[in-house]
Amino acid sequence: MQILNGLQVAKTIKEQITQEVNTLKQKGLRVPHLAAILVGSDGASQTYVNSKEADCKQVGFDSSVFRYDETATEQEILDKVEEINNNPNIDGLIVQLPLPKHISELKVTQMINAEKDVDGFHTISLGKLLKGEDTFIPATPYGILMMLELYNIETTGKHCVVVGRSNIVGRPMSVLMSQNTKYGNCTVTLTHSKTQNLESFVQQADIVIAALGKPEFIKGSMLKQGAIVIDVGITRVEDSSNPKGYILKGDVDFEDVKEIASAVTPVPGGVGPLTRIGLLKNTFKSYLKSN
Ligand code: GUN
Repeated sequence: MQILNGLQVAKTIKEQITQEVNTLKQKGLRVPHLAAILVGSDGASQTYVNSKEADCKQVGFDSSVFRYDETATEQEILDKVEEINNNPNIDGLIVQLPLPKHISELKVTQMINAEKDVDGFHTISLGKLLKGEDTFIPATPYGILMMLELYNIETTGKHCVVVGRSNIVGRPMSVLMSQNTKYGNCTVTLTHSKTQNLESFVQQADIVIAALGKPEFIKGSMLKQGAIVIDVGITRVEDSSNPKGYILKGDVDFEDVKEIASAVTPVPGGVGPLTRIGLLKNTFKSYLKSN
């Protein structure tokens, strides 16, 4: 079984981006700038935002993180979004989700200027994605497409089963995998928590994309021999033997599937690092469009 290693590839792409940023600097030009808004103190969200900030620093992008208390009002956040929309020196804006319950995620994501929507969550971005127009592909689906391309995984005519229908991963992924493009030319089945006989669908898949957020849900017995398995899950599971108090688990039981699958993305080190590259690439794309 082949391990689809995202870490190594991410390192190479980061080096390429760093080179491009160095060229901009040598020409005396402004560098790409990503802004993030983080509301509240959710541990996972803080880790994600810190990683995004570190990625920017590593490749030479500017970054700004605007942190708000859990009690921030919706209007405060909307005002900040508008301010960033109007700042010509900021190319990309992400509002880390989830937001506290009293703040509408829909209102906030819709307020982001679609030209700076590097998360690709705005209705305009998702509408363009549905039509196959040029847009910001949400980072995780983007990372998965990069993985398929880098490992030259044949998709034409294959059956891809996506497990999970979130707006961030499952739904855009199902669209991208069904387009007439080299690395997304499948017959797609989108399954979710209410799918009856879920196993019978997964069993038919040449490519399984597991994005349901249930640790080790996908077992070897659910797979067709030789299936390619993309694990998007990254759940913190309590583990007192770990200094952090938790370990990260994917949606795939790696040990159980490794005899059946022909290729699997590990967690950590699979899709995650490429997802982070997706955001950097989108930020660079926005920068290039406006410069
Ligand atoms: N929460 C979980 N994943 C994401 C993501 O990709 N972007 C944002 N903004 N929030 C998230």
